[in-house]
Amino acid sequence: LVAGIDSSTQSCKVVVRDAESGVLVREGRAPHPPGTEVDPGAWWDALGVASRAAGGLDDVAAVSVAAQQHGLVCLDGSGVVVRPALLWNDTRSAGAARDLVAELGAAAWVAAVGNVPVASLTVAKLRWLAEHEPGNADRTAAVCLPHDWLTWRLSGGRGVESLTTDRSDASGTGYWSAAGGEYRLELLERAFGRVPTVVPSVLGPGALSGRFGAGCGDNAAAALGVQARPGDVVVSVGTSGTAFARASRPVADPTGTVNGFADAEGGHLPLVCTLNASRVLDAAAALLGVDLAELSRLASSAPAGADGLVLVPYLEGERTPDKPDSTGAVHGLRLDNATPGNFARAAVEGLLCGLADAIDALAAVGTPVERVLLIGGGARSAAVREIAPAVFGRPVVLPATGEYVADGAARQAAWALAGADAPPHWAELRSTVVEADPTPWVRERYATARDLTVNR
Ligand code: XUL
Repeated sequence: LVAGIDSSTQSCKVVVRDAESGVLVREGRAPHPPGTEVDPGAWWDALGVASRAAGGLDDVAAVSVAAQQHGLVCLDGSGVVVRPALLWNDTRSAGAARDLVAELGAAAWVAAVGNVPVASLTVAKLRWLAEHEPGNADRTAAVCLPHDWLTWRLSGGRGVESLTTDRSDASGTGYWSAAGGEYRLELLERAFGRVPTVVPSVLGPGALSGRFGAGCGDNAAAALGVQARPGDVVVSVGTSGTAFARASRPVADPTGTVNGFADAEGGHLPLVCTLNASRVLDAAAALLGVDLAELSRLASSAPAGADGLVLVPYLEGERTPDKPDSTGAVHGLRLDNATPGNFARAAVEGLLCGLADAIDALAAVGTPVERVLLIGGGARSAAVREIAPAVFGRPVVLPATGEYVADGAARQAAWALAGADAPPHWAELRSTVVEADPTPWVRERYATARDLTVNR
């Protein structure tokens, strides 16, 4: 048996699968506390609850942890957490990111690490910490990411020098180069003022350390979990909205829109991320006083384009486009279109328009878009599934429901256990294809409303 763990923004999921066939044997989950600043101890507690719900991990031969990317976990020399982790969606580091870009120039960042710093990236959080909490910065001996820390705790939490990470998560720090396969410690030093004593060593994708796989970032794990092939663009509607694809070569986008991340299979994972995805649905449902099923029904009952009502869903600020201080906006509201159905539809269309832009950005850097796979908690909404092909202007493949991130981590664990050259091939997921007439005017109207309200 192998286990895969997904420590995501809102919860922890554990799957136990048969290492050879990939068949699901047991699973469990537990919630995480809300907020963009979380004590890593809460992830550890949730992992304990979720593992017990999954029948424990004692009989499991190999375990891999996948987790939310970028979160800054600071440890002192004895491995004690210095302050709560700052998560990928915490935008207090926006000014620090702007300063880092101003100091070196976007082109130099892209050339060095394939990314332009934004508030999400670890490097910007380190600059924020150095500037705003010098005492905590001074105590910090090791910096690591959520999956690194959980793997370290699971393997006994011995000295901080035993911390490990993998290529996919390292590539989201802003001080590790996916193209060069090396840390760029001069960038870490620029951000933080010094290089912490320990940065995790970067394990290769099929590595096994004790009974632990290298683990990976959640998006890289999802690519493993859906067994994405070249030509597939995976669109995930989770707490974050992401669009990404496996690539054999590193991607360097001079605009900074596409992140030049590594994947968990020895290749690359160009990725675009929005801060506002499934929680837009939660917020719209709460505002209308309905549950998610009713929100979906309302959205499906309204006409494409919501009769001119547009929701720009930047409820948590936004990362793509890089508008960390922006807020959401409702545009085009009239007496005769102010209905719950139009509002629900505008919420779904608004979040999908952001993801359609993400697919276009991937295509603009040369990513082939042969199939679009739609996954994530938000894709459980019937309205999201049915409106996505209309907004994307292309058919959408829906893999059978699954915990793709935890599944990807389990597949990595099976790979590490087998000591093979490549991940095992598990049975293809059943999938369905959804088609709809394209609605390009919905995207045009959305772009106009966004430019009027946010890009003023
Ligand atoms: C990717 C990103 C998010 C988190 C969410 O760059 O910030 O997708 O990994 O878990």
